[in-house]
Amino acid sequence: MGKKIAAYPGSFDPITYGHVNIVKRTAERFNKLYVIVMNNPNKEYLFSLSERLEMVKTDLKGIKNVVVDTFDGLLVDYLKRHRIFNLIRGLRAVSDFEYELQMANANRSLFPELEIFFLMADTDFSFISSSMIKEIANYEGDISKWVSKNVEIKLKEKLSK
Ligand code: PNS
Repeated sequence: MGKKIAAYPGSFDPITYGHVNIVKRTAERFNKLYVIVMNNPNKEYLFSLSERLEMVKTDLKGIKNVVVDTFDGLLVDYLKRHRIFNLIRGLRAVSDFEYELQMANANRSLFPELEIFFLMADTDFSFISSSMIKEIANYEGDISKWVSKNVEIKLKEKLSK
């Protein structure tokens, strides 16, 4: 059942070192990891799907068993099509839990063969989120500890428009 392949989906608006940390830790334990840049219909995005995809590709370049892809549809449809039975999500705090539980139950109800793994964010990243980074960047605060130089530049460009 494709036990050595996993997927890590998300919005990545933009990708942070918290995401990169989850990707690296997962990639060490699976033969192949699909990082899928997706749309959450409940969110308003700063970056388009293709802008988010480019930033994710740039930040994850060099991790050799990672495939970066994008899909504008239902997650389980992508997973079924690629025969991926392992899903990875990161958890930071209790506040993430309810949303994750709801999503996990919905995804497993749509795709019962799916197993979902939750990784706790490393403490250095346990409080950062893409939305907090956008807020700090909007007020020209220093975000260099949490995102790559490339993302920092893209954020500056976008927020100055
Ligand atoms: O980084 P996020 O915003 O927490 O990621 C959420 C995402 C994009 C993985 C989720 O919204 C998703 O799977 N979107 C695709 C549409 C879908 O399958 N929705 C059903 C989820 S139960």
